Amino acid sequence: MKNDGHVSNGKSPVILLGMGQVGRSLLHLILDYNEKARIPEKIVIAGIADSHAVVFDDNELSQQMLADALTSKKAGGSLEQVSGAQPLSEISSLITAGAIIVDVTASEDTVSLLKPALSRRGGVVLANKRPLAAAWSQAEVFFSHPYVRYEATVGAGLPVISTLRSLISCGDSFSSIKGVLSGTLGYICSEMERGALYSEALLSACDRGYAEPDPREDLMGADVARKALILARSAGWPLEPDDIDVEAMFPPSFSDLTLNQFQDQIHTLDQEYALRTQEAQNAGKTLRYVAKIDRSGAKVGLSQEERDSILGALGGPENAVIFRTHFYNDVPLTISGPGAGPLVTAAGVLGDIIDLSVHMREGQ
Ligand SMILES: NC(=O)c1ccc[n+]([C@@H]2O[C@H](COP(=O)([O-])OP(=O)(O)OC[C@H]3O[C@@H](n4cnc5c(N)ncnc54)[C@H](OP(=O)(O)O)[C@@H]3O)[C@@H](O)[C@H]2O)c1
Repeated sequence: MKNDGHVSNGKSPVILLGMGQVGRSLLHLILDYNEKARIPEKIVIAGIADSHAVVFDDNELSQQMLADALTSKKAGGSLEQVSGAQPLSEISSLITAGAIIVDVTASEDTVSLLKPALSRRGGVVLANKRPLAAAWSQAEVFFSHPYVRYEATVGAGLPVISTLRSLISCGDSFSSIKGVLSGTLGYICSEMERGALYSEALLSACDRGYAEPDPREDLMGADVARKALILARSAGWPLEPDDIDVEAMFPPSFSDLTLNQFQDQIHTLDQEYALRTQEAQNAGKTLRYVAKIDRSGAKVGLSQEERDSILGALGGPENAVIFRTHFYNDVPLTISGPGAGPLVTAAGVLGDIIDLSVHMREGQ
């Protein structure tokens, strides 16, 4: 029997899309949270999905089902292997009135579920940046709807978006936003500053698990550009993807290479990046991969920063965001810390689920 969007105990069912690094960490955090939470605050998980299958119960998935799903995904399997799993196409039947969809995929396909959820008085929590970084005509609803949260999309668990939104609701206005928003590129810049060659720094970022399996995903700057767009739009500047000027940390000809060819040829870029690092050092500065945003557009790429500045002094994969606003003009407001990692990202998502659940209950 289908539920009406509120399970028997009156709470909004949560549907979790994505069982990768963040999705699995989030599921663990929710199970821990539910053990300690009072009954009205418990989070009811009615469905979980990966790219192949969905597992759901019209009321609530049992602890056993969730444990089986975690075991299967941790072992590199698919949810298809979990007893009772249905094809992913069945997921649209779960988008009932009042459901909260938590998107921890990196997919563009989820938009076809997110928008119906909102139109059925449900909510949306995103770690997935893609729905927010589409053309403004497609993405606007996610910035204006009261039942959407997306803290983990910029700076993972750091309170970047909530701070921005809180300033705006207090009547502040933004003049510029600047930040180091990629742990991977931050790490590569720090390593080059310490004397490593570009190819060595990249290899080390891969070995430490900071980089995507194909590191060009990080080096092309597209992920940082999406974050810049999200910050701009949250600050009230409805920029389009084309308003972001992005510098990739490899030449266009490297895009067509296979991953193996790319890995073989990466050392040919060592001299160019050693020179750029040296130029910054000669000027008493340091090279950082920086997003600079204002109402007219954004620029994402390498930038020489003063060594003792907030961005110049960052080490390793740390992130920092600097808000210059009407209230914080002479001395800008800075948020910094670890800006990636499954656990801190999942914690940011869990904070959003809890906040949104309270907000939706109060709005009933
Ligand atoms: N990892 C971090 O530190 C971090 C930090 C901040 C933000 N984020 C963002 O959080 C999101 C998840 O990151 P991750 O590291 O967990 O990625 P991941 O390990 O690649 O996991 C992605 C998950 O999404 C699933 N998926 C893909 N398409 C789907 C669809 N249409 N419906 C349902 N599930 C689908 C995948 O299924 P399969 O398992 O079947 O492949 C996989 O389980 C990304 O958008 C990322 O940018 C991550």
